[in-house]
Amino acid sequence: MVVSLPKVVVTRRLPGVSLPSLAKLAAVAAPPPDSPMPRDELLRQVPGAAGILCTLADRIDSSLMDAAGPGLKAVSNYGVGVNNIDVAEAGRRAIRVCNTPDVLTQATSDLGFALLLAAARRLSEAERVLRAGKFTGWEPWGFLGVPVYGGTLGIVGMGKIGSAIAARATGFGMRVLYHNRRPLSPDRERALRAEYRGLDDLLAVSDFVVLCVPLTPETRRLMNAERLGRMKPTAVLVNVSRGEVVDEGALAKALSEGRIFAAGIDVYEKEPAVHPDLMAAPKAVLLPHVGSATGETRERMGRLATENLLAVLAGTEPPCAVN
Ligand code: DGY
Repeated sequence: MVVSLPKVVVTRRLPGVSLPSLAKLAAVAAPPPDSPMPRDELLRQVPGAAGILCTLADRIDSSLMDAAGPGLKAVSNYGVGVNNIDVAEAGRRAIRVCNTPDVLTQATSDLGFALLLAAARRLSEAERVLRAGKFTGWEPWGFLGVPVYGGTLGIVGMGKIGSAIAARATGFGMRVLYHNRRPLSPDRERALRAEYRGLDDLLAVSDFVVLCVPLTPETRRLMNAERLGRMKPTAVLVNVSRGEVVDEGALAKALSEGRIFAAGIDVYEKEPAVHPDLMAAPKAVLLPHVGSATGETRERMGRLATENLLAVLAGTEPPCAVN
């Protein structure tokens, strides 16, 4: 008897996703491309698929689920944020949605802290000057930043990444405030030496505001002009969550008017586009969405995304499901 393997679509070649291993248990529709799969190609590949292994660049909505048909059982996202997937619609169709938390917590937290330091001490700006051949010697008034050691860190979204950033702050003698949908348990607060604050209060007193929230209807443009206006003029904003959490135009304006000191940004509202006014802001440290970008982390993400996919197809509980 010939048992046919379930069809899976892998939308992109990814570290840690081994096609030969996958091929033992599933029929991979086509060799994945080296760049994001165009939408029309994805729609062409998914009919009859039982599983899709995708990235944040793929919009997995009801029309894509329609195209896949009723056999679709698993959408396995290579990444922790699942805002590219209509999770509610997947739930209605009994499609499991999986992601890759934990394995990227430390890498993303390192990057968040790196952005905090870089923005506070104007590293990108200073390096640009040096590379332009304009370093004329030690300068007593040059590139004056704001101190990190002993500052007040306000973390918005105290999940795994927020907590890991809080842990890093201990070594910098920082006071840690946080805002979350629900306060942590008193034990957890003690362990992280973190104090709960209402959002407006946190924004008003923090020297560093780090955004670690998932993108949801409630967090979309959470940092709008009004909330940016609550921050101190000496404060730094860091975003390692999703670009849509910040109104980029309002942020650029706040920077140009000196209403906040600096920003460290890894994610954008309309990636890969970046708001031109933000591009023009010298005190914005801008990175191309590299929060989880270490070789080891990306390998682990790929292994976990594969494991999630195969578990659902085998009818077992995946290690990390969001529904
Ligand atoms: C995620 O995991 O959601 C990141 O943004 C991609 O690494």
